[in-house]
Amino acid sequence: MNVYDAVQHRRTIRKFKQDPVNTGDIMKIIDCARLAPYGANMQPLKFAVISGEQIRRELFPLIRYAGYLKDWDPSFEECPPVFIAVLNDTSIKPSANTECDCGAAVMSMCLEAEELGLGSCWLGAIDRAKIKETLGLDEKYDVKYLLGLGKPAQNGCTFAIKDDIKYYFDENGDVHVPKRSIDEVVVEL
Ligand SMILES: Cc1cc2nc3c(=O)[nH]c(=O)nc-3n(C[C@H](O)[C@H](O)[C@H](O)COP(=O)(O)O)c2cc1C
Repeated sequence: MNVYDAVQHRRTIRKFKQDPVNTGDIMKIIDCARLAPYGANMQPLKFAVISGEQIRRELFPLIRYAGYLKDWDPSFEECPPVFIAVLNDTSIKPSANTECDCGAAVMSMCLEAEELGLGSCWLGAIDRAKIKETLGLDEKYDVKYLLGLGKPAQNGCTFAIKDDIKYYFDENGDVHVPKRSIDEVVVEL
């Protein structure tokens, strides 16, 4: 799979099979975050792998899926088998200045997951304080994002946006994501 195909095919996955993800794949994904571009090359981000069932059960209520899907009640049976917690080491950089670092790192991980046949879900609507406590993290770490990973239990596709930016699940539970056309995003000078 080349990068263009990975970008085209990647969709946010919110339903996962429970098959474990092998450690080699997880480390390869984190390695892509390690090699991402970082402002001033400060590399403040650290990554914690969460795969135990009990800890995932504790985390599950602390994440919020799909704000647009008001009627969908996610089940733990489809919880990502792995979460990677994206942490900022505040002894290296203040957390407020790390958003772009996180963007580059998380997207690199999403694309590598895609190459490995894994679905990914970038999670920002999370209870950061409770997650920090649940994970027993050192004071110097701020939780920035969680990345859910695993074999996808749903498909995803895009369609040309009409008048609404809201994605939806179809009758099979697959996700359809509206995207603006190339003409709408290119600014002619
Ligand atoms: C910074 C950021 C935070 C996100 N947080 C959440 C989240 O908390 N819950 C969720 O279900 N999806 C979350 N998403 C996924 C977006 O909803 C998704 O990227 C968007 O709907 C477009 O779909 P696509 O990723 O399939 O292209 C987040 C994405 C980004 C970039």
